[in-house]
Amino acid sequence: MLPTVEQALCELKLAEELNPGPWVQHSIHVGIAARNIAKKIPRMNPEKAYIVGLLHDIGRRVGIVDIPTHIYEGYRYCMEKGWDECARICMTHSYLRMQDEFTHEPEDEKEKVIKAYIMHCQTDDYDRLIQLCDSVAVDYGFVILEKRFVDVTRRYGIMEDYIKGWDVAFEIKEAFEKEMGCSIYDALPDVGRTSLLTPKPWTPGDKEKRKNTEKEDHAQ
Ligand SMILES: [Fe+2]
Repeated sequence: MLPTVEQALCELKLAEELNPGPWVQHSIHVGIAARNIAKKIPRMNPEKAYIVGLLHDIGRRVGIVDIPTHIYEGYRYCMEKGWDECARICMTHSYLRMQDEFTHEPEDEKEKVIKAYIMHCQTDDYDRLIQLCDSVAVDYGFVILEKRFVDVTRRYGIMEDYIKGWDVAFEIKEAFEKEMGCSIYDALPDVGRTSLLTPKPWTPGDKEKRKNTEKEDHAQ
């Protein structure tokens, strides 16, 4: 089951009040990218693609948390709401290599739950679509895969497992492009221009700073 588009947008708004940050605009762009790509593939449902894209990171509603926590919380929240198709995407979107990402036995309880889920999951079109769109959507728009990979690596450092996922992302891209009959970038508005931008990394105080600047602007 899925929420409606209106419900999904409303959930994002509520979540932004709980935990403001660039992840909200990123989520909106993942949704738009997924919808635009799905529109070019007749067997896919663009509205479903949009909704699962909008809510893939909804676990971030609980605060600034690590990858397993946002996945676990997103899954739990969507299941509570009865949105099992979104819950599934919350689980799969960060694990491009799926079972190969879990060669270790996690100590953390949340990671144990995630591993148990992933080990029995075969990706479908929507899992792969959101894994791909997560890698081309940023808060300020759409970027080429290479750009996003460098940005993430600059932010978190070199993680060998993450780099192994790059090849999977390119494979998914090529598979979708074959079906679309064009580049995925043809479906992403302004990707060429946005890929050339390098905004300063966001920090948690940015929203407050922005609010204060707006107040000062109005006072003038
Ligand atoms: Fe994401």
